[in-house]
Amino acid sequence: MTDTTLAPDAVATAPQVREIGIIMNGVSGRMGYRQHLVRSILAIRDQGGIELSDGSKVTVKPLLVGRSAGKLAEIAAEHGIEDYTTDLDAALADPRWEIYADFLVTKARATALRKAIAAGKTIYTEKPTAESTAEALELANLAAAAGVKTGVVHDKLYLPGLQKLKRLIDSGYFGRILSVRGEFGYWVFEGDWQPAQRPSWNYRTEDGGGIIVDMFPHWNYILENLFGGVESVYAQASVHIADRWDENGEHYTATAEDAAYGIFELAGGVVAQINSSWTTRVDRDELVQFHVDGTHGSAVVGLFGAKIQHRNATPKPVWNPDLADGHDYDADWAQVPTNEIFQNGFRQQWEEFLESYVLGTGYPFDLLAGARGVLLAEAGLQSSAEGRKVELRPLDLG
Ligand SMILES: NC(=O)c1ccc[n+]([C@@H]2O[C@H](COP(=O)([O-])OP(=O)(O)OC[C@H]3O[C@@H](n4cnc5c(N)ncnc54)[C@H](O)[C@@H]3O)[C@@H](O)[C@H]2O)c1
Repeated sequence: MTDTTLAPDAVATAPQVREIGIIMNGVSGRMGYRQHLVRSILAIRDQGGIELSDGSKVTVKPLLVGRSAGKLAEIAAEHGIEDYTTDLDAALADPRWEIYADFLVTKARATALRKAIAAGKTIYTEKPTAESTAEALELANLAAAAGVKTGVVHDKLYLPGLQKLKRLIDSGYFGRILSVRGEFGYWVFEGDWQPAQRPSWNYRTEDGGGIIVDMFPHWNYILENLFGGVESVYAQASVHIADRWDENGEHYTATAEDAAYGIFELAGGVVAQINSSWTTRVDRDELVQFHVDGTHGSAVVGLFGAKIQHRNATPKPVWNPDLADGHDYDADWAQVPTNEIFQNGFRQQWEEFLESYVLGTGYPFDLLAGARGVLLAEAGLQSSAEGRKVELRPLDLG
């Protein structure tokens, strides 16, 4: 039977699946390949797309872009992807591809985003959106002037632990929140006797590296979305390990900090302290952990887990250095149940962005939000260089 022989009502009920072409630049990288291509876009494609809140369905079609045709061909073949190219300009000129997604090294991002905005593409990008606030704001302004929708990765907000934390905050559990203490980090090998598990550019300022540029954009959106916008920062950046070995086993001198110790004052009066370190050995349940204290209760959350201690379950320790304290403090905490299925955070954000793009609804995590993350990183570096607290100015378009 051909389409033309279908009864009219059968045609009307046939599911319409709109296919959205996405240029994916930087898919050979760690984030581009695993989180964005495999865990998000291919996962969406392979399940036949997603259903939007208006009942319509969309699916995705990736176009892989990169510098090495060989690498792209390999990835394309492995995952049944038809389209790949090393010619970004040609990809941007082709109207079949509606969204430009960027997972390049930070240094290469602004140039590519400028081109994609000029080509009128919808933008979805990794953080940090640029290397300087001026450039990040310029990109946000260019996109606003061109009328293109933009999205910036805010993946940590989608971590199960942080979603549980959001639920606790929204329920009023904490009373008045006083402070947040964050610990992020793990040991990244120097690269000589064991290969490093992060790319070497992370440790070179001249290549866009440094833990402040890498992590402060994350801290910015976590803090502003959960506790209050960041109003000031005091940070100490340290290059604890200067001798490192790169992907080829060659020695190099690290120029970018591998640890940063920050204090952030938030709108509304909450104080946050966050340590970010690639030079610490883990002694916590997870690689990131936030301890939140409020007048009515406290919580400790990680990537997945969350535990709470209500004021009614709070012990009354008395400081006495002469007596060993036999109290089991761990036992005072109760686990927060999961209660819902959380999918991969990168994918969840992709799905929300696609929905917002197709339905034309507002999207909060845009290039201006990304620029605020870059501003915090820049202010953190300035604070460390000048040895003082730096106030953050509000960022506006225009
Ligand atoms: N959201 C997160 O949790 C998270 C985590 C890690 C990294 N990131 C961000 O993702 C981006 C990529 O980081 P990564 O760890 O995947 O890096 P990576 O080095 O593994 O991958 C970088 C990609 O950029 C390409 N590339 C390198 N130099 C280039 C150049 N000069 N021109 C064009 N392409 C170039 C590489 O071929 C590769 O595809 C960075 O901006 C980083 O800040 C985000």
